[in-house]
This record gives sequence, structure tokens and C-alpha cells, in this order.
Amino acid sequence: MSFITFEGIDGAGKTLQARLLRDRLVREGYKVWLTEEPTKGVIGAVLRDFVEGRISLREETVALLFAADRLEHLREIEKALSDNVYVISDRYLLSSLAYQGSKLPISWVKEINRFARLPDLVVLLDLPPEVAYSRVLRKGAFDRDLKRLSRVRELYLKLSEKPPWRDVTVKIDASQGPEEVHSDVVKALRDKGLI
Ligand code: TYD
Repeated sequence: MSFITFEGIDGAGKTLQARLLRDRLVREGYKVWLTEEPTKGVIGAVLRDFVEGRISLREETVALLFAADRLEHLREIEKALSDNVYVISDRYLLSSLAYQGSKLPISWVKEINRFARLPDLVVLLDLPPEVAYSRVLRKGAFDRDLKRLSRVRELYLKLSEKPPWRDVTVKIDASQGPEEVHSDVVKALRDKGLI
């Protein structure tokens, strides 16, 4: 079975696209588990408090917590994959490299995440930061200024062009409408032989 992750800056439409893909695969008869990071576990709860501005933490602590949340998440991911379930995760390792990597030495962020397996496919939903920003203005305040979104996007693009990410990442134009994006996602899965 396959491990598919959705990535991109805030406002790219990952959550909607992950759901559309889940629904599509379920209709086609696959067993699917849609999950997300930060997770719904105990470490994920602390991360949500941070992301939503209820607590303040040092950047290093945040990076370590995302890595720890992922380590626990992977137990469930591996289990689902071994049960022949398609796993779709709304954010995963590349989020840490792009977000934490834009504030901390990226080699250290990679190191603390070295246990994390590579997904079979990374769908990178890419769009101009200005468009993403206007979509998320109504949401919380964490890391959502325009300059920050631009830096994170640049890092996503740079990482996705280098191994090992280059071989598993498909970049999709997320400024299109949801239906167009969804059909590009399905095409990416077909091209990779995952469906
Ligand atoms: P998410 O709930 O996916 O927010 P959105 O739906 O707005 O994209 O993610 C919350 C925030 O967590 C998001 O701003 C990105 C950040 N994040 C990291 O900084 N590092 C990580 O490793 C992950 C998984 C998320």
C-alpha cells in the first residue's frame, strides 16, 4: 500500500485536497486512513496550543516536538501500511524541513527526523504566497505573515528539487480551482502507479 502526504504553505488547500482524495479512493474500493500532523495525540495537542498562540515555546523545542509527534505517528502509519491501508497525511516530514528549516539549521532538523521514512508520494500544493495569504487572513496568527510564507514556499520548492525529495514529489498548481487540483492529484497517483 502507499503512503501519500500533502504539503504546502498555509492556504494551499491541503486539507480539502486530502479529503477529496480520501473520498475518491474509498469510492474506488481502497482502504484509506486520512491523518494529519500535528497529530491528535498528546504531543500534537501541545503543538496545536503553540500553533494557535496559546503557549509560547523556543523554536528548538517546537522542532523537537514536531519530530517527537512524528515518531509516535509513525507507529500508527507503519501499522496501517502493513494492514494494506492507504495512508494519506495532511502534512508530514517536509513541513518540518520547510517551516523549522527556515528558522533553524536545516541539517539539525533533518538529523532529529532521521527516523522518519520517506513517503511514496508527496503532493506539493504550490501557489503564490500572496494568494495563500489572502486565503488564510481569517485564520490564526502563527507564522502567517507574507514574508514568512514566501520563505517557507521557497524552501519547499528548493527541497523538492533535490534528492531524496525530487524522486517522490509532484508539484501541483494550487491556484487553480479545487476540481482541477484534484484531477491533477489523481493523475499524479496514476503516473506513479499508485492506483
Ligand atoms: P495545519 O494544521 O496543517 O495548518 P493549515 O491547515 O493552516 O495548513 O498546520 C499547522 C501549522 O503547523 C502550520 O502553520 C505549519 C506548522 N507545522 C510546522 O511548522 N512543522 C511541522 O512539522 C508541521 C507538521 C506543521
